[in-house]
Amino acid sequence: MGAYAAAYERSIADPTRFWGLAARDVRWLVPPDRVLDDGAPPFYRWFTGGELNTCDNALDRHVEEGRGDQPALIYDSPVTETVRTYTYGELTDLVARFAGALRAQGVDRGDRVVIYLPMVPEAVVAMLACARLGAVHSVVFGGFAARELAVRIDDARPKAVVSASCGVEAGRIVPYKPLLDQALELAKHKVDRCVIRQREQLHADLVRPRDVEWDEAVAAAAPAECVPVAATDPLYILYTSGTTGRPKGVVRDNGGHAVALRWSMENVFGVGPGDVFWAASDVGWVVGHSYIVYAPLLTGCTTVLYEGKPVGTPDAGAFWRVAAQHRVKALFTAPTAIRAVKKEDPEGALLAGHDLSALDTLFLAGERLDPDTYRWASRVLDRPVIDHWWQTETGWPIVANLRGLEPMAVKAGSPSVPVPGYDVRILAPDGSPAPPGADGDIAIRLPLPPGTLPTLWQDDERFVESYLTRFPGHYLTGDGGHIDEDGYVWVMGRTDDVINVAGHRLSTGTMEEVIASHPAVAECAVIGVQDSLKGQVPRGLVVLKSGVLAEPEELCPELVQMVRDQVGPVASLKEVTVVPGLPKTRSGKILRGVMRGIADGQEVTVPSTIEDPGVLDTLRPVLRKPT
Ligand code: COA
Ligand code: AMP
Repeated sequence: MGAYAAAYERSIADPTRFWGLAARDVRWLVPPDRVLDDGAPPFYRWFTGGELNTCDNALDRHVEEGRGDQPALIYDSPVTETVRTYTYGELTDLVARFAGALRAQGVDRGDRVVIYLPMVPEAVVAMLACARLGAVHSVVFGGFAARELAVRIDDARPKAVVSASCGVEAGRIVPYKPLLDQALELAKHKVDRCVIRQREQLHADLVRPRDVEWDEAVAAAAPAECVPVAATDPLYILYTSGTTGRPKGVVRDNGGHAVALRWSMENVFGVGPGDVFWAASDVGWVVGHSYIVYAPLLTGCTTVLYEGKPVGTPDAGAFWRVAAQHRVKALFTAPTAIRAVKKEDPEGALLAGHDLSALDTLFLAGERLDPDTYRWASRVLDRPVIDHWWQTETGWPIVANLRGLEPMAVKAGSPSVPVPGYDVRILAPDGSPAPPGADGDIAIRLPLPPGTLPTLWQDDERFVESYLTRFPGHYLTGDGGHIDEDGYVWVMGRTDDVINVAGHRLSTGTMEEVIASHPAVAECAVIGVQDSLKGQVPRGLVVLKSGVLAEPEELCPELVQMVRDQVGPVASLKEVTVVPGLPKTRSGKILRGVMRGIADGQEVTVPSTIEDPGVLDTLRPVLRKPT
C-alpha cells in the first residue's frame, strides 16, 4: 500500500491515534486529555483538556528554537513600491507590543476584535496579537461595503475594531475609514475602541476618544505575553456567504486548527520549516487566514504578503517577479488569477528573465480549475500544477493531491483524492451512497477532522440545520460531484445559491435583498452565470411593481450602484435586466438553477412543478445573452 492509502486508512479507522501523533508537532502548555471528544454528536471537539497559545506556536516558539533571524514575513507591495522583510524575532516583538496595545484598550481573553485592513503587515500583526491574548479576531475583507461590515459587527459584538486609513487598489486609493465610520453608525452594537493605522497615501480623520492611532497605541503599551487558552476556545470567526443574506460566522478553534494546519503544510503542500510559501490571496478570505498567516508560521516557513494583483501591478509578469525575487517554493492562488495572466500574456513571455528555480509547485483553489487553465499553467511553468478543493468551513483542503505525502497522477478537472481525515461520500437524494461515476451531493461523514468548524458563532442551531440535517451523520458541503473508479473526486459546482466570483464566495441572497429594497422592484433574482475570466459573475433579473413606469436604462444602473454601495465592489454585479416575470414552482420558489442552466447553455430539465412554463420561454433570449 502506498503512503497515501496507508495514511488515509489510518486516519479514518483510528482518528484518535492519527491526530494524536500529529499533535506532537504543536507546543502544548497543557497536553490534551482526549484527542477526540465524541460524547455529544453531532458536535465533536478535538484535543479537549489541552491548553496552548496559537501565537506562541506561530512565533515565540520558533524564536526559542533558533529561527529568530529567519525571515517570517515578506511584505511585497507593488502598489506602494515597498518590499520589507520581518524576521521571526522582529515579528514576535511587533505582535507582543500590539497585543499590549490592544490589552490597554480593554481587549481580553474571549473578547472579539474586528479587523478591517488591506494587505499590510499590520493585518498579520493584529491577527496574531489577538491570538496572543486569547481574543477572537474576525477579519472582514476590504472589498465589502459598510453595510456588510455592520452586519458582521452586530453578530461578533467586538470590543474593538482595527482598521486603516485606506487600501491601495491598482490605480485607486480606497478610503477605509469613512466605510468604517458608516458601518459603526449602521451597527446596533456599540464599539468602544478603534485602532487606526494611518497610511501615508491618505490620512484619516479620527473620532476621539473612540479612535486611536496605531502608532500612539503601540508607543504607550507594554508587550504582552502569550495567554494560555483551551484547545477548544475560539481563535477566530470568519464570516462566509450562505444562501440567505445573513452571513455565517464560521468558528475556528485553537488546538485542532494548529494541529491540522501544521500537518497540511508538509503533507499536502510539501513545504517544511525554512521554506518560502506564498499564498496570493487576501487575509480577508480563508485562504489568507490559513495559508498566508497561520499554516506557514506554525511550520516555521517564510510567508509572503502581497499587496498587488496578478495583472496591472505593473503587468502580468508580477507573480513571476515575486516568486523569483523571494525564492518562493510553493505558490498558491485562485484559477482566476492565472486566467487573468493568461489573457494578458498568452505565451508566458513575461516569465523570461525570472529565475524560478526555487519554485516546485503551483497550487490552485477557491473555484473550479478548468482544464484549459490547468494545461496552460502546466505548459508555461513546466512544473506540477495542483488543484485542491476546500471551503471556509473546513479551513484546509478536503480533496487534494498530497505532494508531501505521496504525489499522484493528476487528472485535469479533478482536485484528486480525499485528504486523510475526510471521509468523503457522494450521496443520492435519499441519502444512499451513489455508485462510482454518478453525481450526487458531496458530503463528509462525521466526525470532521481537526481544524474544521466546530459550530457557527453563537448559533449551534443554524450549524446543525445548515450542514448536519440534510444527511444525518454527515456534513453537507454544498457542492455536487462524483467519485470515479480510481477514487478521484470531481467537484462540479455548488448545489445552492452561493456563487463564486473571481475565487470570492458571494451570496446571491444578499444581492437580492439589496435590489428588492428598491421601491420600483416587485421581485428579483440574482443568478451566477459562467464568465471566462472570473469563473462566474452575478446577473440580476427584476420584475417591476405594476403601475411603475421606471425606465430600465435609468433603473438598472441605479440597482447596480446600490449593490456596489451596499454589498461592495467585490460583488462585481454589472448587469441587471428588467423582465416581465420570473419562473417559479407552484409553491412560489424561484427556479434559479433552471435559469442558470439556460444562461450557461446547458440542457435543463424544467420541473413539472413549474407554475407557468411560458414565463421561462420569454426569458430564454435574455438569459442566453452573453455577459
Ligand atoms: N478593497 C477594496 N476594493 C477591492 C478589494 C479590496 N481589498 N478587492 C477588490 N476590490 C474591488 C476591485 O478594485 C474591483 O473594483 P472595480 O469594480 O472598481 O474595478 C472590484 O472590487 C472587483 O474586484 P475583483 O473581482 O478582484 O476584480 P478586478 O477586475 O479588480 O481584478 C482579477 C480581476 C482577476 C485580477 C482579480 O479578481 C484577482 O486577482 N483574482 C484572484 C482571486 C483571488 O485571489 N481570490 C482569493 C481566493 S483564493
Ligand atoms: P470558500 O468558502 O470561499 O473557500 O469557497 C468554497 C467554495 O468554492 C466551495 O464550496 C466550492 O464551491 C468552491 N471551490 C473551492 N475550491 C474549489 C476547487 N478546487 N474546485 C471546485 N470548486 C472549488
